[in-house]
Amino acid sequence: MAKLSLPLLLLVLLIFFTTSFSCPQHQKQALLQFKASLFNATSPFTSDKENKPIFFESWNSSSDCCDWHLVNCNSQFDSRNVIALDLRRLFGRLEPIVLASTILTPLFHIRSLMQLHLSSNQIQGELPGDGIANLTKLIFLDLIDNHFSGSIPSQIFNLRYLQYLYASYNSFNGNIPNEIGNKTKLQTLSLQHKNFFGKIPSSILNLKELEELDLSYNS
Ligand SMILES: *[C@@H]1O[C@H](CO)[C@@H](O)[C@H](O)[C@H]1NC(C)=O
Ligand SMILES: *[C@@H]1O[C@H](CO)[C@@H](O)[C@H](O)[C@H]1NC(C)=O
Ligand SMILES: *[C@@H]1O[C@H](CO)[C@@H](O)[C@H](O)[C@H]1NC(C)=O
Ligand SMILES: *[C@@H]1O[C@H](CO)[C@@H](O)[C@H](O)[C@H]1NC(C)=O
Repeated sequence: MAKLSLPLLLLVLLIFFTTSFSCPQHQKQALLQFKASLFNATSPFTSDKENKPIFFESWNSSSDCCDWHLVNCNSQFDSRNVIALDLRRLFGRLEPIVLASTILTPLFHIRSLMQLHLSSNQIQGELPGDGIANLTKLIFLDLIDNHFSGSIPSQIFNLRYLQYLYASYNSFNGNIPNEIGNKTKLQTLSLQHKNFFGKIPSSILNLKELEELDLSYNS
């Protein structure tokens, strides 16, 4: 067996630690891109620092994104992927700025995501279906209190692990799709407030795990 000299061993260990215990480079880049487009989108409205989205001071390229505010990684030994993003109420108590849903594009590159919270951000436009389709590990999706419009993307109903879907208080329109019945793992489905019209599909009866269903204030 070849012997490693002590300095070499230390170097190998150092490389191992620095590469294995921080978030993957491409996920960090995706998050930095999200931050950049968020700040770019808000810059015409906010000259003064007080008015910026909060909590992003820790998001810089020299630190591990698993240590950043609002970001959670798994604690597996071999890889630390980003598994949860808590992007609720990005402007805190300040008046939020209307954001285009394209701002979410970089987030759809983080395929290890299991929880995504986006509520109360005034995001408007369609929720990109092909982006959502990328997040195949998603268990929890919170879109409450934005201005998402168009139909709710059918790709959501292909997310096999999805258990919690909160989409109330948006401007989705159309029917509740028949494919809802395919989401047999769904435990909570919250679609209240002026989003949907038409019949409630009978396939909803296939949701054997369902514990909470809120369709109030629709047509
Ligand atoms: C920043 O915003 C402007 C418009 O407000 C847009 O034209 C430009 O492409 C944006 N840049 C980036 C890097 O997102
Ligand atoms: C980057 O963020 C870390 C915390 O995540 C902080 O300790 C460090 O000072 C920051 N570096 C710069 C250059 O802002
Ligand atoms: C899905 O993720 C891959 C890998 O990160 C990325 O290259 C691709 O652009 C993503 N697709 C969408 C629609 O965001
Ligand atoms: C839902 O399931 C039906 C069969 O039960 C299948 O034909 C359909 O493609 C599925 N739709 C989605 C969006 O998964």
